Amino acid sequence: MVPPSGFRLVEVETLELEIEKLIDGGDGLGRHDGIPVFVPRSAPGDRVRVRLTERKPGYGRGEIIELLVPGPDRREPPCPHFAECGGCDLQHLDEAAQLRHKSSAVWETLVRLSGLKLPPPRAIVAGDAWGWRLRTQVHTVTSEKDGIATVEVGYHARGSHRVVPVRRCPVLLPELERAVLGLEAALTPPAPQRIDLAVGDDGTLAAAPPAGGIEGGELVRSVAGYDLRFDARCFFQGHAGLLEELVEQVVGDWEGETACDLYGGVGLFALPLSARYAEVTLVESDRLAVRYARRNARLAGRDNVQVVGQAVQSWIREGLAEGVDRLVLDPPREGLGLLVRRLVLMRRPRRLTYVSCHPAALARDLADLAEAYEIESIALLDLFPQTGHMEVVAQLVLRAVDAQA
Ligand SMILES: C[S@@+](CC[C@H](N)C(=O)[O-])C[C@H]1O[C@@H](n2cnc3c(N)ncnc32)[C@H](O)[C@@H]1O
Repeated sequence: MVPPSGFRLVEVETLELEIEKLIDGGDGLGRHDGIPVFVPRSAPGDRVRVRLTERKPGYGRGEIIELLVPGPDRREPPCPHFAECGGCDLQHLDEAAQLRHKSSAVWETLVRLSGLKLPPPRAIVAGDAWGWRLRTQVHTVTSEKDGIATVEVGYHARGSHRVVPVRRCPVLLPELERAVLGLEAALTPPAPQRIDLAVGDDGTLAAAPPAGGIEGGELVRSVAGYDLRFDARCFFQGHAGLLEELVEQVVGDWEGETACDLYGGVGLFALPLSARYAEVTLVESDRLAVRYARRNARLAGRDNVQVVGQAVQSWIREGLAEGVDRLVLDPPREGLGLLVRRLVLMRRPRRLTYVSCHPAALARDLADLAEAYEIESIALLDLFPQTGHMEVVAQLVLRAVDAQA
């Protein structure tokens, strides 16, 4: 129960808390006089002394100043930069505990915020917990000592733009880690402040902007038998080892005449869908991704894939036909806008697949879609090990009575 106000938190600087559980996103939850206090990098079962960093009506946030009693799942974080670097949230928990606590946090958010009776997760899927990332974004900081300017490369500290230079980053694929660690020696001032890097199946690297001898070229990842070309500037799923599993969970083994893949990127789902549906429409607003999606479809010989370069919200009224067999939705974090939800409910695709990395937005959208759809199954995929995030794939089917309406 949320107390009427957080006024009691105002009276204190530091608190002792028992961490009950993790919440979605990875923070621990403790309570002071019943008022929830969220504590990053804490673990269930911890007894901690925290300094309050935020006081709001009904809740607060705090940072650990002393670990009084460690929870049972705690371990020494394997990366030496964990304490400072903002890239990971959960290295202080072993992998089995991360998966357990994250899954139940995501689940609780989905159930609580959707208000729906959901079927229990059909699958909870994990892959490599280290050496998995195929894309990253690093930042540089240039300093001057004795008239000599030097560049350091790293990640933003948690909740700040301060750059933490790194000597290791074990979540990256090894060739990507080597490239990141080699940048410092290769960069000369003035260096770009931010560099996006990615690596293809064959170890080819690409950087945006080109930096430290790494060019901005095209990369290829082969997934489910399709070559997907992309580069460091466009979105691509980050976990190299779970791409096949993600596609399998999303595409499934349904078939039909018409499918639409909204927020389709470079075609990760549209190409495998094109083997199961006679006509596939991919809608994507990023011009570069659209170019790659068209090229990927053409080079795969899939002339039944039509790529539309438009924002979903401007396409959907004219573009989404009545009663398509399949609609895949993989929006950015904020989820679907009201207009998109309304139009989906009006046009009634027979089967919906919703892919999300933000359970709160997904829960809101499922609550609306449940007006006409049954939520058939939900799978959780740990696409982001060592962080507090998970990917959710929900399969929905139009209820028979709504299909006839
Ligand atoms: C989470 S990514 C998913 C991409 C693709 N489904 C995949 O798995 O590779 C979301 C994609 O939506 C695109 N996007 C963002 N806002 C959009 C909008 N309003 N309309 C269409 N596409 C959008 C982004 O450029 C990005 O490629």
